[in-house]
Amino acid sequence: MVVLGIETTCDETAAAVVERSDAGAGRILSNVVLSQVDEHAAFGGVVPEIAARAHVARLDQIIGKAMLDAGTSFDSLDAVAAAAGPGLIGGLIVGLTTAKAIALVCEKPLVAVNHLEAHALTARLTDGIAFPYCLFLASGGHTQIVAVRGVGDYVRLGGTLDDAIGEAFDKIAKLMGLPYPGGPQVEKEAQSGDPNRFALPRPMLGKLNADFSLSGLKTALRLEAEKIAPISEQDVRDLCASFQQAVIDVVADRLRSGLKIFRAEHGAPTALVTAGGVAANEQVRKVLQRIAFEAGTTLVAPPPELCTDNGAMIAWAGAERLAHGLRDMLDTPPHPRWPLSEVSGPAVSAATAEAGAAEAGAAAAAAGDAGAADAGAAAAGDAGAANAGAGDAAGDSPAPTPPSG
Ligand code: KG4
Ligand code: ZN
Repeated sequence: MVVLGIETTCDETAAAVVERSDAGAGRILSNVVLSQVDEHAAFGGVVPEIAARAHVARLDQIIGKAMLDAGTSFDSLDAVAAAAGPGLIGGLIVGLTTAKAIALVCEKPLVAVNHLEAHALTARLTDGIAFPYCLFLASGGHTQIVAVRGVGDYVRLGGTLDDAIGEAFDKIAKLMGLPYPGGPQVEKEAQSGDPNRFALPRPMLGKLNADFSLSGLKTALRLEAEKIAPISEQDVRDLCASFQQAVIDVVADRLRSGLKIFRAEHGAPTALVTAGGVAANEQVRKVLQRIAFEAGTTLVAPPPELCTDNGAMIAWAGAERLAHGLRDMLDTPPHPRWPLSEVSGPAVSAATAEAGAAEAGAAAAAAGDAGAADAGAAAAGDAGAANAGAGDAAGDSPAPTPPSG
């Protein structure tokens, strides 16, 4: 099964072609990621309108390159997958509409993928691990511990009550005058800093649940920085190192709790799996390794380029869903908010799959006209999407940090 995947939820324009064997083994045929970091850097965060326009400008070329690199044709694809949420509405509309157009023209199934599900399933592409496993997802928009029990079967064990970990790294970086995105910068500064110089809190330590809270830590760091202002270069290094150490201590404690809850409710996990941009942090990886070992399991950490947003994870999730008969209609709307717990699985979606098969049958039977009817459905779906986006934007403050994975 060969699937094209499109990712446009935040500030990466990405496309990839991935193959999944009948036995479930994955192979990346191409993986093209264009980061928009330069376009957003001046604003210290992702600007949704700039992101949407940049996706429109570049997505066609990125898809073209992914197809070329893979040496495959649109005809030989088995499906087209796109991230349909959660994320910034403008980008979602661009990626999903493009996928619908390809699916329609090439008469291929469409798979609308949840971006978080794609992060969750990446370890099966890279390491072929079996269910159930414990996922630690830490990105700029999300911090969650999840029991991954099967395709479309996710139980949230804990998560952040306020800032996501990546978001906290980004805010700290901004406070220190370090460029965006902050995570890698903070990690770099921390390498030559003293992690014990500032006594920062470890929020939620020892709690029986698996939740996180990071806003207090961020405030405590700001107060420390204000106390010693103006801060020198060494102060920045020490502040970064102290912050990173506090985050690592919190992650260790929260994951210990999460793994205990996992064992009690879902049995032994096959692995502790990490995903999201924060997993690119060497020190975070080290502590995850230790926690996994302590809990009697192993850490599976996909390579950093597959932990951050990419098209291969979307293509793979599309292939995994398609292997279970899960596909989506052309009027599927984007979902700016879409918690993992609301992702459908094989059982729930049997009716949708049947309806999809019926739609394909009808389209085949009524050749020319069916295409027109489908195009109408797609356009109606997109109008709905645009409305949904307007609604979401109205109810949401236009904070530069996006609600993506
Ligand atoms: O998963 P991701 O690429 O995008 C989404 O948020 O969807 O994650 C990006 C986040 C940013 O907040 C970035 O600062 C953080 O991951 N990050 C890091 C590191 N590399 C990226 N945080 C800490 N240390 C890093 N090395
Ligand atoms: Zn993500």
